[in-house]
Amino acid sequence: MAQQDATVLLDEDHNEVIRMFEQYKAAHDARRQQVLASEICQSLLVHMQIEEEIFYPAYQQATGDEEVLKDSRKEHKEARELIAKIDADRQNAKLMLDLEDAILHHVNDEREKMFPKARAAQGMDLMRLGDQLQLRKTELMEAHPA
Ligand SMILES: [Fe+2]
Ligand SMILES: [Fe+2]
Repeated sequence: MAQQDATVLLDEDHNEVIRMFEQYKAAHDARRQQVLASEICQSLLVHMQIEEEIFYPAYQQATGDEEVLKDSRKEHKEARELIAKIDADRQNAKLMLDLEDAILHHVNDEREKMFPKARAAQGMDLMRLGDQLQLRKTELMEAHPA
């Protein structure tokens, strides 16, 4: 497995889910939309979990940046609430668009505020964190396929 900087790995997840939202919006068949909706929700849940288990605590320790973390955790909570609503109402395209808006905003915060600070921080081993994130991601995707 190629080693990857944690922020690069996480941002590739971001790009991937943004592409999936584009596919969702371009899909006209209801069955295809439902498959994409469930893949999007699954990949977001895994992504948020690995951030919270591995990346955020390391970021907290290295930067002490409570403010950005507090906002990020709040945005994860809001995304999980939307995902729970989507789970209960799989045909609801409006909820998927709300989720897309929330995720675009959150991704932007991580890209603009958190990742640059993480790259500049002393004491964050981004390559080692990248390995840990990749391992945990694989484990979670295998345990809960979409
Ligand atoms: Fe996040
Ligand atoms: Fe993220």
